[in-house]
Amino acid sequence: MEIIVEDSAEAAGETGSRAVIDALASRPDPVLGLATGSSPEHLYASLARASAEARFDPRRVTAFALDEYLGLDPAHPQSYRSVVDREVTRPLGLDPARVHVLDGGARNADAECRAYERAIQAAGGVDIQILGIGANGHIGFNEPGSSFQSRTRRQRLDERTRRDNARFFGGRIEDVPQECLTQGIGTIREARQIVLVASGAGKAEAVSAMIQGPVGEHCPATALRSHPSVLVLLDREAASQV
Ligand code: GLP
Repeated sequence: MEIIVEDSAEAAGETGSRAVIDALASRPDPVLGLATGSSPEHLYASLARASAEARFDPRRVTAFALDEYLGLDPAHPQSYRSVVDREVTRPLGLDPARVHVLDGGARNADAECRAYERAIQAAGGVDIQILGIGANGHIGFNEPGSSFQSRTRRQRLDERTRRDNARFFGGRIEDVPQECLTQGIGTIREARQIVLVASGAGKAEAVSAMIQGPVGEHCPATALRSHPSVLVLLDREAASQV
């Protein structure tokens, strides 16, 4: 794990976007792994600038999002399909036909998850995966207790995650779905490179557990410690317990 502490979340996002550009530049069929949430927003803003200035060519990039709420219409403004369209696909200029998000409205969730795994494989695997970290140490929606070998599957969301994400649903926890579909930890670990961004004091404990706590299923992000290429980008607050 390489750990870089920047002065601000903006600077961490800038460094993250350079890592993404470098990782994809030499690939004939570049594959980018997308995270949603507030953590990567500066990274995406920086990639959007690079795209506008022709320092990043988005046209041939295939992208796979990590996770999606189950039972939320993909057209709902807080579905990750909508968030990815709004915050990533359009600002970066990605080809919408190459941007994949799990279908939270799928009638057969297990079949949807299996098809998603096959699509990632068919694209040649993920070159670089962008990640945030949940306050409980989750990555994607892999909550504490998830197996490090887990694959894309249906999951129940922790109460804490639903509480944390209620801010995207007008503060109403009862509107946050109870379940989700998420790439597994085993799936995420197959990405050739990983760049994890965390900012703010609220992430300090999870970041500390990821970097220096005992490795185990109680903290899903500790699964990244044995990955050969992980870049962790922190602002000062998120790094305050490291
Ligand atoms: C969310 C997402 C994760 C994200 C994490 C942190 O629930 N499913 O992919 O990395 O939790 O979110 P945020 O970056 O908004 O703090």
